Amino acid sequence: MKTSHLCSLLSFISQAQSVLEVIQAATPPRSDLRTPTCRQHVFTHDFGNSYGSPYVGYYVPPRDCVYTTTIFNLSVTSRGRQYDRLATLWLGDVEVWRTSTAMPTQTGIHWSFQKDMTIWDTLLRSQDPPKIIFELNNIIDGDRYTGFFNATLEALYFDDIYERKGRLQPAEYIYAISTRSSSSNTTSLFSLPEDSAAVDLALPQNAKTAVVSIMASGNAAEEFWFTNVPTEYINTFPGNEGWLYGYSPFREVQLLIDNQLAGVSWPFPILFTGGVDPGAWRPIVGIDAYELPSFEIDVTPWLGLLTDGEPHSFALRVVGYDTLTEDGIGPVGENWWVSGSVFVWIGEAGEQTIAENFKSDIPPPLFDFQPTLGTYTAEDSTVTNTSFYYSLTAIRSLTISSKLTIGGQSRLVSWSQNVTYSNIQNMTDFAFNQSLAMISSGSYSSSASNIVSSYTYPMNLFSAYKVQSEGATTNPGSVLCLVDRSKLSDGISILPFLTGTLAGPETLKTRQNVTSHYHWNSTIVEGTAGLDTMDGEVWFSSSSSPGTKSGVQTYHRYAKEKDDALVVDRGGMGHNPGPKYATVTCR
Ligand SMILES: *[C@@H]1O[C@H](CO)[C@@H](O)[C@H](O)[C@H]1NC(C)=O
Ligand SMILES: *[C@@H]1O[C@H](CO)[C@@H](O)[C@H](O)[C@H]1NC(C)=O
Ligand SMILES: *[C@@H]1O[C@H](CO)[C@@H](O)[C@H](O)[C@H]1NC(C)=O
Ligand SMILES: *[C@@H]1O[C@H](CO)[C@@H](O)[C@H](O)[C@H]1NC(C)=O
Ligand SMILES: *[C@@H]1O[C@H](CO)[C@@H](O)[C@H](O)[C@H]1NC(C)=O
Ligand SMILES: *[C@@H]1O[C@H](CO)[C@@H](O)[C@H](O)[C@H]1NC(C)=O
Ligand SMILES: *[C@@H]1O[C@H](CO)[C@@H](O)[C@H](O)[C@H]1NC(C)=O
Ligand SMILES: *[C@@H]1O[C@H](CO)[C@@H](O)[C@H](O)[C@H]1NC(C)=O
Ligand SMILES: *[C@@H]1O[C@H](CO)[C@@H](O)[C@H](O)[C@H]1NC(C)=O
Repeated sequence: MKTSHLCSLLSFISQAQSVLEVIQAATPPRSDLRTPTCRQHVFTHDFGNSYGSPYVGYYVPPRDCVYTTTIFNLSVTSRGRQYDRLATLWLGDVEVWRTSTAMPTQTGIHWSFQKDMTIWDTLLRSQDPPKIIFELNNIIDGDRYTGFFNATLEALYFDDIYERKGRLQPAEYIYAISTRSSSSNTTSLFSLPEDSAAVDLALPQNAKTAVVSIMASGNAAEEFWFTNVPTEYINTFPGNEGWLYGYSPFREVQLLIDNQLAGVSWPFPILFTGGVDPGAWRPIVGIDAYELPSFEIDVTPWLGLLTDGEPHSFALRVVGYDTLTEDGIGPVGENWWVSGSVFVWIGEAGEQTIAENFKSDIPPPLFDFQPTLGTYTAEDSTVTNTSFYYSLTAIRSLTISSKLTIGGQSRLVSWSQNVTYSNIQNMTDFAFNQSLAMISSGSYSSSASNIVSSYTYPMNLFSAYKVQSEGATTNPGSVLCLVDRSKLSDGISILPFLTGTLAGPETLKTRQNVTSHYHWNSTIVEGTAGLDTMDGEVWFSSSSSPGTKSGVQTYHRYAKEKDDALVVDRGGMGHNPGPKYATVTCR
């Protein structure tokens, strides 16, 4: 953007305009957000040195406002030098939004993102107003890390008519699987593996449907879990100690009810905005960076056990692949931030839910690991490792079912999943060069609908670092990064479908292709003007069956970025055939 020299007013305007808008392509939660029935400012809070100091307030929707739909609008500005940060939003002990920040610039950035909150309607309208807690752990340390994240949350309320079941049917109860720490004004994340992420819950005896929603993301040593190696390979390249992380590139997030497996997630590999190459994600952030995905497990087949009036344990666990154990299952590193919630719909008062014929068919996952070390033998016959190529594949299926009888009516209920995974990596140049071709796919079906849902997450990632061996992130260095990836899904999103905000299946297709060459000198979070180059494109399209006429049926967006600028950005309501979505290729 050119700066004006005409007068200070113009230069002020031009400075204001030079705030860079950083986007994530996503379907807006409603076809028109401009004229809410009511609009409410929830909080404004500047996150400076904010480790362990979340914003804490009470959430009280406006009295006298007639509405069905609640949409939160998070809007953030930042200016300076800063790492990317994870942030979590809570209603009491229940996590409702996990997000992450964009990388700021010295002239400033802004982003805003809207999320439909209607599935939490029961919490939002609690007689006892819940605490609203937003944690964004940030560091300001004088002149090195200077970027605040100044956040504003607004709530938009709309009086939409939901037709599927005549009205909205939000879950009557929502229970937290979390540390339940809101009473001490903190968030309630479990940190795995050190915490035991388990709570005891007694469900109502007339529960007729129960679904667990889980959020889980790897951070610190687990941020790039999908590029990790089996633990016995972390010292493959002496001279580059500490560069490779262990516990394999496979992760399974598990839900256990009374210590029995109830469902799994082989998680979507998130690339945060400082991830791999901090230059690659501005002004288009990585897929899902502003709204990390949750995943749902229908636990209705367990209701026979869960409605006996007694407390039962709900636990979350994250495991990796271990070449040395018999079943292939092993521990993971630090740390995974996890939390969950149990959404419960009830039948008529006084009706006791009865279950018979509980069946659980859960064979262990099957793994196949094929390592190949490339070596060089010198004349004096010393051997050095020159490359490490390996493939890891995994597959698993599970089905849990029972026959539920409520008020004399019986139905068969079930939850089943098929998941497959393949990860191929080639590391050369002491693992400073790493290429990854990964694909994680699956399908699931639940008694919530008769539709089988499926998804696939292909990702090609190549990175080549040039760093000095000591203090890689504080000494001069550079990275070349190529990412081409997609997220494709087709089917039923269980919680919106049961609530009625969704009336049928939805299809999402997104692809992001970025090539970035990034250089830093004193800190990895700031690139070098004149040397950095970046080209990227994102394609997004969705089609859905919203529960209200104001919902979005079809939406598409295409954007192209070059060197911190958006050079093309087009999209809107309506269908667009989109590109060919990414397929994995092995380098
Ligand atoms: C906890 O947060 C609430 C809401 O902001 C506030 O009223 C209360 O004083 C806080 N308690 C403590 C101990 O800081
Ligand atoms: C979201 O909030 C920001 C800041 O308050 C505002 O500029 C923006 O217009 C809001 N977006 C919507 C859709 O209301
Ligand atoms: C963010 O808030 C801090 C502290 O209140 C303030 O100094 C800074 O100017 C704000 N930054 C932006 C980009 O608004
Ligand atoms: C080569 O890699 C293997 C596997 O990580 C390791 O056990 C071995 O020590 C390495 N050899 C050398 C010479 O570094
Ligand atoms: C791994 O990469 C190196 C360097 O590009 C290449 O020579 C080697 O063939 C690759 N290994 C495999 C199995 O593709
Ligand atoms: C590492 O990647 C860079 C960039 O593609 C390439 O120039 C270099 O030859 C690679 N080095 C090895 C040892 O494969
Ligand atoms: C899982 O795979 C099996 C075998 O191919 C198939 O019969 C079943 O329908 C699949 N289940 C789901 C939920 O996709
Ligand atoms: C992905 O980006 C690379 C580098 O800019 C380019 O060569 C390639 O054509 C792109 N692929 C697509 C499908 O746009
Ligand atoms: C870092 O790079 C910038 C841009 O090239 C340059 O102006 C600055 O002097 C460098 N700083 C150091 C400490 O080398």
